[in-house]
Amino acid sequence: MVGNKVALITGVSSGIGRETARLLAERGARVFGTVRDPSRVDPIAKGEFVLMDVTGDTSVKSAVRSVLDKAGKIDILINNAGYSIAGALEETSVEEAHLLFETNFFGVLRVTQAVLPSMRRRGYGRIVNISSMLGVLPGPYRGMYVASKHALEGYTKTLDHEVRGFGIRAMLVEPVYTKTKIANNEKTVEAAIPAYADQRQRVTEIIEKEIAHGDDPGTVAEVVYAAVTAKSPRLHYPVGEGVMLSRLHRFAPERMFDNQFRKRFQLDQTT
Ligand SMILES: NC(=O)c1ccc[n+]([C@@H]2O[C@H](COP(=O)([O-])OP(=O)(O)OC[C@H]3O[C@@H](n4cnc5c(N)ncnc54)[C@H](OP(=O)(O)O)[C@@H]3O)[C@@H](O)[C@H]2O)c1
Repeated sequence: MVGNKVALITGVSSGIGRETARLLAERGARVFGTVRDPSRVDPIAKGEFVLMDVTGDTSVKSAVRSVLDKAGKIDILINNAGYSIAGALEETSVEEAHLLFETNFFGVLRVTQAVLPSMRRRGYGRIVNISSMLGVLPGPYRGMYVASKHALEGYTKTLDHEVRGFGIRAMLVEPVYTKTKIANNEKTVEAAIPAYADQRQRVTEIIEKEIAHGDDPGTVAEVVYAAVTAKSPRLHYPVGEGVMLSRLHRFAPERMFDNQFRKRFQLDQTT
């Protein structure tokens, strides 16, 4: 139950963040959802907006302070804000990689560090980091996004051990393809290398089709709800097809997984 809980969710203007905010508010939580531009979003059921850009120290600190001033506590933190960049790793500049990590990884670090002192003082907290199946698997032509989600997985696994003694748990929700604005909001590398063009295009078409036919964001929101209300939380919460994929990745022989993976993404078959 989340009836007496206060939740802070980053990135509620669309997609998974928006559906999670709606679900938690409907089930009784007091929800604060962060946005960068309130004029671009529809109101969330019973939720309150907070201005926050996760890439800014001052923005994050003042947003968290305003929630604590209004509600007195934050029981649940859902680090959801994120975006992707399309391009081969060789095509991705250090600047593009740095910007992506500022949101997908350092954004989580910033918000979590701002919230943890109040959770520690109260001896309770649930932190859900929205990772991805790409936090576990490779993802050609989305490699920098993959790297940011793998970093998030390592961070969360360790955080969970460090804060557990204070009554706080950290968890990873790992969606697969989900019908959101992620493809529209995706950036593309500036310095494309022609040698990658055909494969990049093939993979991008597959990803876009999968997202268009992917899970409803409400499905991910239900998994987030299960994670934050679990009596004995697990570290990993794969979503939908991700449950089977993560098992396959763990238990199938490496070469078999590698072959299937290259076939699925129509990558050139080599020795
Ligand atoms: N959709 C999928 O297939 C999928 C699969 C696995 C994991 N995920 C993860 O799920 C999370 C949510 O993505 P989504 O699919 O719901 O995509 P989305 O519809 O594009 O939503 C992304 C949200 O993140 C916010 N955001 C981006 N940069 C931000 C920043 N610097 N500061 C604050 N907010 C920022 C966006 O706000 P603005 O409106 O201000 O840009 C938006 O509300 C992401 O972490 C993504 O990696 C998605």
